Amino acid sequence: MNATSVSVVVRVLLAAAAAWLIAGCSRAPSNQAPRKTEAASVPMPEFVTKNGKHAFLVDGAPFIVLGAQANNSSNYPAMLPKVWPAVDRLGANTLEIPVAWEQIEPQEGKFDFSYVDTLLALARQHHVRLVLLWFGTWKNTGPAYTPGWVKLDNTRFPRMINQKGETIYALSPLYQSTLDADKKAFAKLMGHIKDIDPQHTVILMQVENETGTYRAVRDYSPVAQKLFNGPVPEALVDGLHKKPGTWPQVFGKDADEFFHAWSIARYVEQVAEAGKAADPLPMYVNVALRDPLKYQDPKTYAAGGPTWNVLDIWRIAAPQIATAAPDIYGHTYGDIMGQIARYKRPDNPLLVVEIGNTPWFSRFFFAVLGNQGLAFSPFGMDFTGYANYPLGASKVNAQTIEPFALNYRIIGPMMREWAKLSFENNVWGVAEPDDHSEQTIDLGRWTAQVDYQQWQFGFLDPRHKSGIPPGTEQPSGGVLIAQLGPDEFLVTGLHCRVSFSLTDKKAKQNVQFDRVEQGHYDHGKWVFDYMWNGDETDWGLNFTSQPQVLHVKLATY
Ligand code: DGJ
Repeated sequence: MNATSVSVVVRVLLAAAAAWLIAGCSRAPSNQAPRKTEAASVPMPEFVTKNGKHAFLVDGAPFIVLGAQANNSSNYPAMLPKVWPAVDRLGANTLEIPVAWEQIEPQEGKFDFSYVDTLLALARQHHVRLVLLWFGTWKNTGPAYTPGWVKLDNTRFPRMINQKGETIYALSPLYQSTLDADKKAFAKLMGHIKDIDPQHTVILMQVENETGTYRAVRDYSPVAQKLFNGPVPEALVDGLHKKPGTWPQVFGKDADEFFHAWSIARYVEQVAEAGKAADPLPMYVNVALRDPLKYQDPKTYAAGGPTWNVLDIWRIAAPQIATAAPDIYGHTYGDIMGQIARYKRPDNPLLVVEIGNTPWFSRFFFAVLGNQGLAFSPFGMDFTGYANYPLGASKVNAQTIEPFALNYRIIGPMMREWAKLSFENNVWGVAEPDDHSEQTIDLGRWTAQVDYQQWQFGFLDPRHKSGIPPGTEQPSGGVLIAQLGPDEFLVTGLHCRVSFSLTDKKAKQNVQFDRVEQGHYDHGKWVFDYMWNGDETDWGLNFTSQPQVLHVKLATY
């Protein structure tokens, strides 16, 4: 046994002892990594797909990431004490937090994983799982998080050249030297995680952060020009059912952007592959988004990243990447619903790994989970004092966190049940539109109508000057529905009223509630608490800001 393997064994033993001490004797909550003694049998997290639907299996069962993403510079042991209180207050089951190339390999070939060790031990103490964000060649498209020996050496690690021949900020995806260095660092990180994390506290890896390039649609260096005027790789030509040719011949006016997307995706794929060879955790990429609804000039967004218009290219180029996950900071309901529609695909599980953290965004939790989303994670959820206003809240405090915490108080206790229903049954969900207008959801035989800004009793009656219920001035409502049986549904929500009718408007029958039970789940079993009837059901089912979960059985007469 050489010195390296001895130190690995010692580290594993120390980590195991620490994990055993931390885990204590109590039963692990469902989001907590199993205790070390059980670790040998803990299955590797993975994404599975059946009939076009996806599940994220953690500890062998469907899981929803009820996440919190920390700020960009919270990835040091000194900052972590300001992270956990926000995560705990939010009731998140997962923390998404960076691991930067500059911090683990400050000098070439010399690795320091002390932050990672501290992070994992503390995450276990706080009963949260981790999604680690690899800030490598790309962080918001630039190389700021690469070590000095990378970003200062543009001979060995060349930057891109724009159409005017100028050197620009981003590293080129076309150089083996850069790829090899990133691959090596990422593989070392993954190897270390494998050594210290047999219980899979780390459930998912983000490879790079927001790839693509602003203001230049591709690299125009001589190396790039040669490739661009060469043949499009066969895998892409075949995958997209095109005829062979050079990039301009095959893709015409889209050639520049498609070439860049392919180049970046292949690079990311090889980094992921190297990492998975060390530890085969599932991996994804996050996306700096393009307008979901209308044409946008590629110079105005992160061109070459996995924007919706090049997602097919990314899927072919990067099969090790389980999904491309949208970073949602749009300012209208239409924009956000458009992004959800773009990234929910049979070949791309919907994971919202970043969303703005103002209360305005919190209601989209219902739209994300209702679209079989497997992750929802407001960004910047820590008490480090940094706030990314105006993208998100101007201050991160208890009030900022509360609307998101409320979402998690509803789904947290039944996260496993919801995740299973989402994979195996039909689920639906909507968020309140900006104009508070009513929505209908087609449930098959039944249609649900969702209204906002209603009092619990009766209809809003302007003659009584009752106004709207306090707390509903800003859109804050949403509903989730899951099918339990032909006429039976799980229904939950906030700040909304849900009523049911028969979808067939010509049907002669009338609708009634057979039963409306409020209850909760205990180890997968539904526990009846009390029945809703009378005023509580006469005007529809009214959800306020209380976490309430119903089993609703509909009938006709
Ligand atoms: C998206 C990035 O992925 C995050 O790291 C962060 O920079 C936000 N944008 C802005 O706060």
